[in-house]
Amino acid sequence: MTFEKTILCIGAGYVGGPTMAMIASQCPRCRVTVVDINPERIAAWNSDNLPIYEPGLDELVRATRGRNLFFSTEIERGIRENDIIFVSVNTPTKSFGLGAGMAADLQYWEKTARQILEFSDSSKIVIEKSTLPVKTALAMERILNCRENGIHFDVLSNPEFLAEGTAVRDLEHPDRILIGSRETDNGLKARQTLVDIYASWVPKERILTSNIWSSELSKLVSNAFLAQRISSINAISALCEKADADVAEVSRAVGMDSRIGPKFLNASIGFGGSCFRKDILNLVYLCRNYGLDVVADYWESVVKINDYQQERFIRNMLGAMFNTLAGKRICLWGFAFKANTGDTRESPAIFIARRLLEEQAEIVVSDPKALKNARTDLTGVRGQIRYVEDPLLAAEGCHAIALLTEWDLYRNLDFKKIFDSMAKPAFIFDGRNILDHRRCFDIGFNVYPVGKPPLTHF
Ligand code: NAD
Ligand code: UGA
Repeated sequence: MTFEKTILCIGAGYVGGPTMAMIASQCPRCRVTVVDINPERIAAWNSDNLPIYEPGLDELVRATRGRNLFFSTEIERGIRENDIIFVSVNTPTKSFGLGAGMAADLQYWEKTARQILEFSDSSKIVIEKSTLPVKTALAMERILNCRENGIHFDVLSNPEFLAEGTAVRDLEHPDRILIGSRETDNGLKARQTLVDIYASWVPKERILTSNIWSSELSKLVSNAFLAQRISSINAISALCEKADADVAEVSRAVGMDSRIGPKFLNASIGFGGSCFRKDILNLVYLCRNYGLDVVADYWESVVKINDYQQERFIRNMLGAMFNTLAGKRICLWGFAFKANTGDTRESPAIFIARRLLEEQAEIVVSDPKALKNARTDLTGVRGQIRYVEDPLLAAEGCHAIALLTEWDLYRNLDFKKIFDSMAKPAFIFDGRNILDHRRCFDIGFNVYPVGKPPLTHF
């Protein structure tokens, strides 16, 4: 079969894999190849055991792999053979030198640009899929177009807005697709090529085009706004606990204002995930770099509230359990940073587990999909840790349960049986406010939600 377009994606992670599977599925006349430097990851994409858990992803990959979707480690060949190249390598926070702990580490990104330059023998469209600081495309253009050999590269920005756990749905029905380009003839032509790919399944009015810097910046700002809503409601949850108000009632009342809207107003132990923190810190760094310290401080406070919320959760546990956790056994229900994913990057559970161990508690970690990652995250951390997948067995003999991830399975367990198997007095700290608190209290638990009055038997 001859394909109309040949597409390469460099980086087979949480973004590259699912995004390319969706393009392959919606555009059968495109051949899509995903390459990565990590051979184990590629082997997993080619197996029945995909490297990431995402509802609906197995079916999507099964339907397209070997037809017009291919996973490979042959980066050099991929670059030669494809005219449209997405780059979705990781862009973590820099851990060294100037900007350490704040700026984006662009080394993987720049290495990829140099590889594209080295192995290209024809002109190509290069698309930023990774989240990047504003003006990265300029650096990319400079690297790529530094040779005068007749080969031309057009760089586009096409940030990804999928959320983990709902990636397949988000990719199939995106709120919007954003494509930033140069407003030159070549830039506009490249932009149209990408618009045509998405137009195979995304309604035209949802495909936004913009200048390239607006596109890069919009991605950072979208994540900053989402995280800001969580920090706003979490800040209010602290006040609710003092003022005997109920944060769920407050967020309901506030969110019914159509100008505010109901989403992303669930108080919690704080946001996790690989991107919110890094992208806000990146925005903060950019603002400081441009001398906008007041703006930088404003956005940095979103991260500070998030750290505060996690520490507050531990302090509430300590206060409730008579100011000592030493020798007590605490079961963690959930370790993933949110439900429906096995991803634990920046999960608040990591911080909470470490803090509980510092207090010399013993912990039992339970999660339906994230135990492998949890083991890696807690490798080398001192203290007594057990890993038990079954939530009932995990809670047996424990003094407290801390619910850290909003997995549906925790909502309807046999709480009477769980209570009977635990040390007394038994505590539940519901870090996601998903349990039936009154029912748990009536069974005998002392219940501590986030941002609501506790229900205690003392
Ligand atoms: P990831 O770590 O899961 O995947 C990145 C992959 O790139 C890894 O498999 C790594 O081996 C590979 N890689 C690194 N350097 C390479 C190179 N030179 N050649 C080939 N492969 C290379 O990361 P991710 O979660 O997929 O995120 C990728 C980007 O997308 C980041 O910029 C992130 O901010 C952004 N993003 C992520 C999400 C998300 O939900 N995870 C959503 C939107 C945007
Ligand atoms: C987030 C954005 O939602 C995506 O649009 C974006 O593409 C992605 O980051 C990215 O750039 O990586 P993700 O981190 O996968 O997606 O998941 P979210 O649903 O945004 O949740 C992030 C964190 O906030 C989770 O820990 C979640 O539990 C927490 N959260 C979310 C709350 O505490 N309260 C809420 O009301 C909503």
